[in-house]
Amino acid sequence: MKKEIVVSGIRPTGNLHLGNYFGAMRNYVRMQEEYDCYFFVADWHSLTTHPDTKELRNSVLHVLAENIAAGLDPGKVCLYVQSTVPEIAELYLNLNMLAYKGELEKTPTFKDKVRLQPDNVNTGLLTYPVLMAADILIHRAKYVPVGKDQEQHLEITRNFAQRFNHRYGELFPEPKAFNFGESLLKVPSLDGAGKMSKSENQFATLYLADDNDLIRKKVMKAKTDSGPTTPHSEMPDYIQNLFQLMQLVSEESTVQKFREDFNNAAIRYGDMKKQLAEDMVAFITPIREKAESIRRDEAYLKKVVEQGAEKARESARETIAQTRKLVGLNYF
Ligand code: TYM
Repeated sequence: MKKEIVVSGIRPTGNLHLGNYFGAMRNYVRMQEEYDCYFFVADWHSLTTHPDTKELRNSVLHVLAENIAAGLDPGKVCLYVQSTVPEIAELYLNLNMLAYKGELEKTPTFKDKVRLQPDNVNTGLLTYPVLMAADILIHRAKYVPVGKDQEQHLEITRNFAQRFNHRYGELFPEPKAFNFGESLLKVPSLDGAGKMSKSENQFATLYLADDNDLIRKKVMKAKTDSGPTTPHSEMPDYIQNLFQLMQLVSEESTVQKFREDFNNAAIRYGDMKKQLAEDMVAFITPIREKAESIRRDEAYLKKVVEQGAEKARESARETIAQTRKLVGLNYF
């Protein structure tokens, strides 16, 4: 039986963090056995924020190494770099004819970027969701493992798939955002405000490359207060965040113990953070060490990228041949 197709990507715009891991990469690893998976480094997307491109090569190789260290097997999945598959750009061009300026301007991620970089509101930012739709539709994916922040992009992708099918003929399935468990995940930052992020609030984000001392320092600095004074108090959101993080890396019995302490108004946040810090260290260390050793093996990474491009292009070429036929661009 043909396996269902899965696609997802990560921008090489900084070190990967726990949000990327639990929102996306953990799902990739679990999906690799049962699905036909295409995972890529979204280097074109990263150009929308005008990064220093001297760093790009290192960032791309680093993202690949961290994904492999997290458990992705390039022998099982197609692991590639977006810009090595020019067919994506052709599909992007086609989809741009079906995307309306007004709807793109309303996208929340676009509005955020306009706020964050008012001097660089380029058209690549505006059409970011169109390129993302092309990434997904190029392999005719059914599932897209992503974190909660990407939900709207998936909705836009479904709209474009529908519009294409309606205008030119049935080709694309309507892809769904995917997470093992009921809902998409948003891993909170350590300062109680917002989510972990590659570029913002770096001291409140735990990166997969952080060394043990830095992990401990960051966790111990997380916002707490003097603790509840009465049993069964309402839990402030920054404490809920700490529990949510603990839930990701600690034993269930550990989480349970601190929950009970909280409910009995007997919790010591210093102890809770120490425990969380040690559980984070135990979780991150093996990934960091493995990623460092893979990153050093450039001959291996080159092979992965070449092999990935070949497989991704094979699938992409097939979709492009079909789009050309349906749109009416095949003249002879
Ligand atoms: P990016 O590079 O910002 O993030 C990569 C993945 O990590 C998830 N993520 C989070 N999940 C939970 N909690 C967080 N704090 C958190 N921070 C990040 C993201 O949801 C994402 O799944 N536009 C995408 C890249 C992309 C893509 C695609 C994804 C380009 N084309 C096609 C899927 C399919 C992005 O910027 O992700």
